Amino acid sequence: MCGIVGYVGSQSALDVVMAGLKRLEYRGYDSAGVAVLADGGLAGAKKAGKLVNLEKALVERPLLAGGTGIGHTRWATHGGPTDGNAHPHLDNAGRVAVVHNGIIENFACLRAELAERGHELVSETDTEVVAHLLAEEFSACADLAEAMRLVCRRLEGAFTLVAVHADEPDVVVGARRNSPLVVGVGEGEAFLASDVAAFIAHTRSAIELGQDQVVELRRDGVTVTGFDGGPGDARSYHVDWDVSAAEKGGYDYFMLKEIAEQPKAVADTLLGRIDPAGSLTLDEVRIPAAALREVEKVVVVACGTAFHAGLIAKYAIEHWTRVPCEVELASEFRYRDPILDARTLVIAISQSGETMDTLMALRHAREQGAKVLAVCNTNGSTIPRESDAVLYTHAGPEVAVASTKAFLTQLVACYLVALYLGQVRGTKWGDEIRAVVRDLADISGAVERVLETMEPVRELARSLADKNTVLFLGRHVGYPVALEGALKLKELAYMHAEGFAAGELKHGPIALIEQDVPVVVVVPSPRGRSVLHDKIVSNIQEIRARGARTIVIAEEGDEAVVPYADHLIRVPATPTLLQPLVATVPLQVFACELATARGNEVDQPRNLAKSVTVE
Ligand code: G6P
Repeated sequence: MCGIVGYVGSQSALDVVMAGLKRLEYRGYDSAGVAVLADGGLAGAKKAGKLVNLEKALVERPLLAGGTGIGHTRWATHGGPTDGNAHPHLDNAGRVAVVHNGIIENFACLRAELAERGHELVSETDTEVVAHLLAEEFSACADLAEAMRLVCRRLEGAFTLVAVHADEPDVVVGARRNSPLVVGVGEGEAFLASDVAAFIAHTRSAIELGQDQVVELRRDGVTVTGFDGGPGDARSYHVDWDVSAAEKGGYDYFMLKEIAEQPKAVADTLLGRIDPAGSLTLDEVRIPAAALREVEKVVVVACGTAFHAGLIAKYAIEHWTRVPCEVELASEFRYRDPILDARTLVIAISQSGETMDTLMALRHAREQGAKVLAVCNTNGSTIPRESDAVLYTHAGPEVAVASTKAFLTQLVACYLVALYLGQVRGTKWGDEIRAVVRDLADISGAVERVLETMEPVRELARSLADKNTVLFLGRHVGYPVALEGALKLKELAYMHAEGFAAGELKHGPIALIEQDVPVVVVVPSPRGRSVLHDKIVSNIQEIRARGARTIVIAEEGDEAVVPYADHLIRVPATPTLLQPLVATVPLQVFACELATARGNEVDQPRNLAKSVTVE
C-alpha cells in the first residue's frame, strides 16, 4: 500500500527512483510522483494514474539531474487519486518534499493548527501537514533528521515518511512507525524503500528498521536513531534473492511467472526442515517446547488469501494435534474481545508481513499473554519481528497483487507447523511426521504436472468471458479452496464469484443456480474419506439437475464424477489434507485467463493493493 523510494548517491536520482517505483507499483497505482534536488532547489512532477503517466510527463518536461531524490506510488486513502493529491507534498516555500505511506490519524487538528499559523494547505491529504511541520522545525534547527524526529513525536497513526530539504541537498531522511521501510546500503550511495525490490538491482545489503525509528541517509553512511533521539534499533542483513526474482523473466505477467514458480516455491519452503536426527525445525522459535505442550487452543489470524490458508490449516492442526483451532479474519479479531491467555497459540499468516489488520491482531494477542507464531514470506518485516516464533515461506518475492505462490507456501508452512506441534506434544510419531513430509515433498512434482495440463482450463476460461457469475463449491479442505477460487476470480476478472460449502448449498445458495451458470466443484479424493466424496457427487447431480454447467476438479482415476462433469479438470492424487496444494492451481490459471480474456490488468487489478498497511 503505497510504494516509497529515496536515493542519495552519484547516480541520477531520478533514474534510480523511477526504476524503484516501477518495482513497487504493485503496492498502489492511483498516482505517482518524484522530487529531486537540483540546482539549489527542488524539482518534481506528479501525475494521477499509473506510473506510465508520470513517465510521459517527465519526457515532456524533463527534470534537472541530481543525486538526491524521492518518489512515491500511491494507493489513495485521504483524498481522491488526483494530480494534486499525488505525493510528494511540499511546504509553502517549496523547500521540503515528503512522501508518505499510512494514515496520520490526528492530521485534522494538525492541519487546523497550521492554518492558524498562516500555512496554506492545498491538497486533501493527511500527508501535506508533515511537509509544513518539517519546514517549521527545520527553520529552527537546520537539521532534517532532527526536524523529522520532532515532527514524528507529534504524529498519531501508522506512517512511513521520506523527506528531502533543499537546504540539505545530500541528505534523505526517513521515518517509520508500523509501516514498512528498509534501507539499502551501496558503495557511496544509499537507498530507502518500502520493499527491497526497489533497490535490489543496486545492492543486496539491507538494514531493517525497528519501530519508531528515523534514518538519515548520506552518500557515506546511514544513521539510525529513535524518535526520541536515542540509539537506533536496526539490523543489517543480506537479501538472499537477486534482481531476476523481481522481474517478469519472459512472462507477460508477474502472476503467470509466479504461478509457474510454484513447484520450486513449495520445494524451497520444505527445504532443510528436518534435521539429521529426523526432527522438524522451524526458523526462529522463541517459545519453549514446554509452553507449546501447554497450548489449549490455536487461533489463526490472517486476511485475504492468507486467511484461506488459515482455514485449511485448521483441518491439519486439529487432525494432527487434537488441539482446537479457530480461524479468524484479522480485521475482526481484536474487536470482538477474543478469549486469549498464555495457553493460546496465535498463528499470524501474512505474505508481506506488514498487513495492518494482521499486525494489530497479533499485538492484541500478545497483550493478552498469548504466544504468536508468524508464517511470513518477507524476511525482517514487522509481523515476524514482533512474533515469538517465525516460519518463513520461501516463495521469493511475490509481485502480482493476486497471491498465488505465497498461498501454496503458506499451506506448506502451516502443515509443517501442525506437524511440529504434533511432534512437540507427542500426538504424532516421528515416522508419521516423516511420511507426511515425504508426501509434501511429492507435491512439487504434482504441481508441475498440473501446470503441464492447463491448456483446456485456459480454453474453458476464455469461453466463459461473457458470463456474469461463477460459483465454487467444496467440502472439507476443498471448501477453503472454493473460497480461494472465488476470491481470485473477483480480484482479477471482476465477476460475481462466490464460494460455498457444498453441503450448505441446499440451505440457500442453490437458489442462485439457473441454466448454464458455471459452477466449479472441488471434489475430494474417493479414497479414504469416501463418504465425503459420495456426498459431493450427489451435490454435483443436484446442481446439474437445475441447469448448472459443472466444472469438476477431481483426482486422476476418479471415474464416479465423469457422468456429471460438463468439464473435467484432473489433478494428481494426494492425501486428502494436502489436496488444496494441487486443486488451487487450476483455479489460479482459470482466473488469470478469464481476466486476460476480459481485457483486465492481471498484475494490478482495479482498486486493490498488494500490501494493505491501513486498517
Ligand atoms: C491484500 C492482497 C491479498 C492478500 C492480503 C493479505 O488484500 O491483495 O492478495 O492475500 O492482502 O496479505 P498478506 O501480505 O498479509 O498475506
